[in-house]
Amino acid sequence: MRILVTAGPTREALDPVRFISNRSSGKMGYAIAAQARRLGHDVELISGPVALPPPRGIRVVNIVTADDMLAAVKKMVRRCDVLIMAAAVADWRPKKPATRKLKKASGPPRITWEATPDILKAIAPLKKKSQVFCGFAAETHDLAREAKRKLREKNLDVIAANDVAQNDRGFESDNNALTVFFADGRTLNIPLSSKANCARKLVRALADFWAQKKK
Ligand code: CTP
Repeated sequence: MRILVTAGPTREALDPVRFISNRSSGKMGYAIAAQARRLGHDVELISGPVALPPPRGIRVVNIVTADDMLAAVKKMVRRCDVLIMAAAVADWRPKKPATRKLKKASGPPRITWEATPDILKAIAPLKKKSQVFCGFAAETHDLAREAKRKLREKNLDVIAANDVAQNDRGFESDNNALTVFFADGRTLNIPLSSKANCARKLVRALADFWAQKKK
């Protein structure tokens, strides 16, 4: 199976020295890429800025902004069977980043924000019948309801939801717990364990789902 994984955060510039981003470490996405490779799949990885070594045997495309990630996904998604969007894309960016450093003496900057592109929504029309698209949902509350909404609104086949309000899992942690919702109504619980273990179980479930869809 050919798997395309996105991982890590994206960054949006406020000025030449500052950016807005989020707490994603990239560990979950990198674990998915590494485990998928170990299970014998062909893997490509699109990564935001992270402090992780590139996983062995995997082509990595490094990007910074949501626009960069959208362009890379658009270019690479055609040749995958399964897309796993584990990246935490920053939802907002300054409409006009300052071209010169914002100076402290000028006081708190007034920033006008605009939405970044929603990558999954933008590529939904490109999805082929044989492809499986899996998103992630990072939630602090209403996990099941929000994940199911995203599954529908982003036209996904699968969404893996994780609770990012708890300190023992999710962002920056080596562990995670996932509730995986499938478009056919099934749910899979992957209990708290290492991200490697969660990744292996998720990849196996996606491989089964893809094989079913192909029939
Ligand atoms: N995502 C995306 N493009 C964005 C934001 C998110 O493709 N601009 C993808 C993420 O990679 C993830 C899924 O959409 O697979 C859900 O991301 P999440 O941050 O949980 O949801 P949002 O769409 O940002 O919605 P909300 O702010 O309501 O939680």
